[in-house]
Amino acid sequence: MSRIEALMRKMSLTEKLGQLTMTASRYATTGPIIAGDSTQAIKDGTIGNLLNMVGADHVHDMQRLAVEESRLGIPLLIGFDVVHGHRTLFPIPLGEASLFDPETWALTARESAREAAADGLAMTFAPMLDVSRDPRWGRSAEGPGEDPWLAARFAEAKVRGFQGNDLAASDALAATAKHFCAYGAVTAGRDYASVDISERTLREVHLPSFAAAVAAGVAAVMPAFTDLAGVPMTANGALLRGWLRRKLGFDGVIVSDYNAIAELIHHGIAADLAQAATLALQAGVDIDMMADAYRRGLPTALDRGWVSSMEIDAAVRRVLTLKERLGLFDDPYRRGAAPETAATLASRRQLARVVGSRAIVMLKNERGVLPLAEAPARLAVIGPLADASSEMRGPWWGAAAPEGQVTVATALREMLSESRVLHAAGVEIDGDDMSGVAAALDVCSRAEAILLCLGEAATMSGEAASRAHLGLPGRQREFAEAVFARAKLLRKPVIVILFSGRPLVVPWLADKSDAMLAAWFLGSESGYAIGDVILGRVSPSGRSPISWPRATGQVPIFFGQRPTGRPANPDDHFTSKYLDVPNEPLFSFGHGLTYGRFSYSNLRVPRDGVTERDTIAVRVDVTNDGARAAEETVFLFTHDKLASVSRPVLELRGFGKIHLKPGATGTVTLMLPAAELRFLGPDLEPVYEPGEVEILVGPCANRTQLLAGIIQLSRAPPS
Ligand code: BGC
Repeated sequence: MSRIEALMRKMSLTEKLGQLTMTASRYATTGPIIAGDSTQAIKDGTIGNLLNMVGADHVHDMQRLAVEESRLGIPLLIGFDVVHGHRTLFPIPLGEASLFDPETWALTARESAREAAADGLAMTFAPMLDVSRDPRWGRSAEGPGEDPWLAARFAEAKVRGFQGNDLAASDALAATAKHFCAYGAVTAGRDYASVDISERTLREVHLPSFAAAVAAGVAAVMPAFTDLAGVPMTANGALLRGWLRRKLGFDGVIVSDYNAIAELIHHGIAADLAQAATLALQAGVDIDMMADAYRRGLPTALDRGWVSSMEIDAAVRRVLTLKERLGLFDDPYRRGAAPETAATLASRRQLARVVGSRAIVMLKNERGVLPLAEAPARLAVIGPLADASSEMRGPWWGAAAPEGQVTVATALREMLSESRVLHAAGVEIDGDDMSGVAAALDVCSRAEAILLCLGEAATMSGEAASRAHLGLPGRQREFAEAVFARAKLLRKPVIVILFSGRPLVVPWLADKSDAMLAAWFLGSESGYAIGDVILGRVSPSGRSPISWPRATGQVPIFFGQRPTGRPANPDDHFTSKYLDVPNEPLFSFGHGLTYGRFSYSNLRVPRDGVTERDTIAVRVDVTNDGARAAEETVFLFTHDKLASVSRPVLELRGFGKIHLKPGATGTVTLMLPAAELRFLGPDLEPVYEPGEVEILVGPCANRTQLLAGIIQLSRAPPS
């Protein structure tokens, strides 16, 4: 008999429910919701899983209670949110998505997993895979941006990175694909609000990243807090049991979000914990995180005949199977057995620096003001984010201490010299105090160039951080206007470094600055990463994975919109447009300048009939007409102009990269399996329709910058 079956025979109902319970336990104290002492509960076998513990010693202490002091000795599963790093922080996921580089996405996840596993952890609640087209939603920061195809590539890479080749390895973490699903479509961008979207949008936009995670072997899935058309995801049997388990064959663990089972009562679909627990269990949720609904509600539900012991057993088996796959039964202490070496930590920091510099999106660079050719004799490094270590961490800082992050001011003092960096904050991120402005303007007068570091605080994005106004918080705009006015008098360039967990709505800033970098939140090595780009040691290559609106009223905004029957026409009143702002974003998806200057020519696409079985090669020549070597990212989009269902005006199908010296030309080849041109027909079944499809290639989703060709799809002859 297998280990799991032998255990199942011995377990009492209370012990089984313990295996279905996860509670927050910082250093063995109890969480806010579960009352009592979790230390005793672990010994009693009534808590089988923990979250939010940091430090191998603490983890092992807890593990010892379970393994050595509980009746059955079942090890704990201990998870943590390792969203963009653990102690070493990488750029926030939205920033990392800007790399358009699956190998690096996997690598940072691998390194984060190693670091977290060295802390004794075995599970992470990541990757976050929610497509976001509404930057009001603060959780846009945690995910891969607006595009479903990109999100799917991100999903595969992250799962591969976190889990490695062998889940039982001492440096592997069980990944959790979250938040399933369509969380990014919350009403009006307000966190936790209701989601109500079409079945087509659900399938075309919000499910592909989860399908990709499952195909990559993700160990766990977390349902979103939100409801979908009235059915909270925590109780959504159609999607959890139906789509995820039955259709995709997902047999891993489904772990609820924090207290989400109890919140079914607030959603208005459960009268009490017993009913909430019943709904969640029957929908397919195995682990109850922080609601204590399974321990308190399922015994009653069993008595009332609402759930069966078989349903409970099935969930327990899945949890035990995950523990077994993680190698926890064989050696519960293998993770965190040895501390990482200083050399490992140093090389991880170096990786964070490189990835940080590549995540930067250069939104604007007028007259080639960047890179600062001759390092200026004196550089004004001003603004509330110029020297704010804790902010550099971004919204999910894992176990990173506030003080350990490199700021722009610190890095430049080291990269240039102490005396060449003149620093003043000017204003607070979100305060009213303008008393520091004069000193900051004075600093500008004494410098040759001005680095103006503005943006959001780290906690203004992430969970429960929706914003209705997407401009700069506090008095930063006033401050910036004063700096621009002074810089104009002094004829000095102003380079804006913009920190944010989302695209901000700052057209005025883009207009007035000489150069502007989207620095998202770049993590531990933020300052060096920015310094490397500013000083030209690294040529920026990041591309925005999300559209930047001109006005908040444009959101939701994304390139994959459907055509309208009345395309915008400035000369025709009754067309689809705003009276007060263009339809187009300020910066398109994919936008990002480099220190090169690229032109595209000679697009080659196959002419003959393309069948579903073919993979086509799309080729384009790219020339660097600029004066510096740089890396260009080339995007491949399609548009199915005539189909049984109106197709989006652009659909992302691929991207490629090419590094070119000044004056050099190279060819980029992008492979497109024609089967990907299938779409969901009128009845939501996949179809491959013969006819013309436009192939569009270029530097971003702005149609005016794309080269276009046509391919002809035809039916495959019967095989
Ligand atoms: C968040 C999840 C997270 C969980 C555990 C929740 O509030 O929505 O993303 O994994 O807390 O920290």
